[in-house]
Amino acid sequence: MVSDAPKHYPVLLNEIISIITPQHGGTFIDCTFGQGGYTKKILSFKNTKVIALDRDIESQKKADKIFNNFEDRFLFKNKKFSQLNDLKLKNEDIRGIIFDLGYSYSQIKDSQKGLSFNSKGNLNMQLGLNEFSAKDVINNLEAKELEKIFKFFGEEQEAKRITYSIVKERKKREINTETLVEIIEKSKRKKNFKIHNATKVFQALRIFVNNEVSELINGLIAATKVLNKDGVLAVVTFHSLEDKIVKYFFKSLSEKKSVSRYVPKIEQPEILFSLKKKKPITPSQKEIKENIPSRSAKLRYVIKKKDFYDFDTDVFKKFKILLEIENFGKKL
Ligand SMILES: C[S@@+](CC[C@H](N)C(=O)[O-])C[C@H]1O[C@@H](n2cnc3c(N)ncnc32)[C@H](O)[C@@H]1O
Repeated sequence: MVSDAPKHYPVLLNEIISIITPQHGGTFIDCTFGQGGYTKKILSFKNTKVIALDRDIESQKKADKIFNNFEDRFLFKNKKFSQLNDLKLKNEDIRGIIFDLGYSYSQIKDSQKGLSFNSKGNLNMQLGLNEFSAKDVINNLEAKELEKIFKFFGEEQEAKRITYSIVKERKKREINTETLVEIIEKSKRKKNFKIHNATKVFQALRIFVNNEVSELINGLIAATKVLNKDGVLAVVTFHSLEDKIVKYFFKSLSEKKSVSRYVPKIEQPEILFSLKKKKPITPSQKEIKENIPSRSAKLRYVIKKKDFYDFDTDVFKKFKILLEIENFGKKL
């Protein structure tokens, strides 16, 4: 997540640069262009090229400005990162791929997007290239489906009570952002003093509306395929659900060390990555002070050790429950 008012802060920028080392040149993919913070830094090194994606059409304007200065070294596509395969990059020499997940400060401030519980009016939450909005979800899905979305995508402990109140209220009137916040405030028994009472439900809706679970899984798989041998795949996450998926994906495809030399090495179908650090890299106190939202950022990265394009993964099986919940959106 980044803030751009009054200043734009690409999260963990120095750490990303020291991991992907654009000083040596090469082609990089920025899967979440946003305001172009990472892209601009990479392009500031000679002999680099950046292919950038963002699902939000607003990013196109920022990209056009960069394109004016780096015409032959920069390409932007208004696409979701799950669509990375469409770019036909199989034979490109890709040295590094980065994901900086979530949304930017300018997006949360955009009242049309309605990402914040402080927004007024229509429930929306679409980042771009979506199939349905939060309004469709809240006003149409069945109670048991809403409850699962709040519980699994938002880790909201009072999902059942909140859902009950929503379903009761929507029979009387269409629910918009203000009324949803009001309903949550009224139905929660345990008031939260650290975060806004509506934070978890809003997070859950954003994840659901933007298909963030399947986007991330498909994005990671597509990125792994096109990455060169010895290339780096780096991901910055902002909530535990994202981090769990990235952590599992990296770990399950990395070499496992046996705990003791007497225990045989665990059978593994595919060892694709070298995982340099088990623990995520987090922002320094200095960065957190300058950009408070960076406090929840976690950076994980791996190096691809094989020349494989296709590979097997059980990541869909592992996160089956979340993907089944995401499928509720198909009927909207
Ligand atoms: C935190 S911002 C990235 C900021 C960027 N690193 C910078 O320095 O300016 C996240 C961006 O990812 C984009 N995004 C989120 N999910 C996406 C997806 N599935 N495919 C493509 N872009 C996505 C959002 O629209 C947003 O612009």
